[in-house]
Amino acid sequence: MRHVTKDNITDVFMGYFGPDTDPRLKEILKSLVTHLHDFARETNLTHEEWRKGIEFLEAAGNISDAERHEFVLLSDVLGLSSLVDMLHSSPKGTSSSVLGPFHITGAPPLAIGGDMRRDFGGEVLLAKGTIRDEDGNPIEGAELDIWQTAPNGMYSSQDPDQDTYSFHGIQTTGPDGHYGFTTVKPVSYTVPSDGPVGDILRGSGRHPWRPSHLHYIVKAPGFRTLVTEIFPDDDPYLDEDTVFGVREDLVMTYVEQPAGSFPSDGYVLSGKVDGTWLLADFDLVLVRDGS
Ligand code: BEZ
Ligand code: FE
Repeated sequence: MRHVTKDNITDVFMGYFGPDTDPRLKEILKSLVTHLHDFARETNLTHEEWRKGIEFLEAAGNISDAERHEFVLLSDVLGLSSLVDMLHSSPKGTSSSVLGPFHITGAPPLAIGGDMRRDFGGEVLLAKGTIRDEDGNPIEGAELDIWQTAPNGMYSSQDPDQDTYSFHGIQTTGPDGHYGFTTVKPVSYTVPSDGPVGDILRGSGRHPWRPSHLHYIVKAPGFRTLVTEIFPDDDPYLDEDTVFGVREDLVMTYVEQPAGSFPSDGYVLSGKVDGTWLLADFDLVLVRDGS
């Protein structure tokens, strides 16, 4: 096309694809560029605003490295990560939620009844439940990968004072499908806001907080892997999670238990918890592969 205009540029773009373009790439680019062009026309985007956008993307690239994923964070705070997740999660079983950037592979095994709390202070939380299928049958050999923040609101990879696998562990269920471990009550925390994504949050009058949560990845042969998180119902940020990860069925109550009632056996902390403690009893329901 020799005469490109603001009205025909989108159609001209569509005509530039080569015959061997992968059909899915073509479909995605066609839709993306249609929306991008409409966005520029609708907002009457100025040169100055376009330049600011480019500078933002450059800054996001410059701050990113193997540990810092600013573009993923951007996708998270824009709601794109959660939307993609919801588009492809099963309508059945426990809801999925965002993975986030702080999962690390190779976490150590955590025996049933094990303790992730070790020397950290903070209220003892006993998290337990059954991993089961949609018919209620317990799943033996399910693998539960668990991670959370320390009481200071930091994941181990953010905190030089924590070991690599602090507050990370993998538990495997027996024939009863049961999981159970002790930890500290997770705290609300802020996503990294010292970079360009933080500027966007501040510029939009938004805060960087996430409600406290326990992260779980649940895997079992023959079932869809579930990436999820569970949230206590008394968290002040539950209705304004900055990465849009909260789902109704993932909100539960940490029930305070009286002093002296901690289970007398079966847990590493049995016999060592004198005061009150919290119970998070939550079953995780997996759906079969292909459903
Ligand atoms: C997280 O829950 O660990 C998380 C998710 C998205 C962005 C930052 C952190
Ligand atoms: Fe998290």
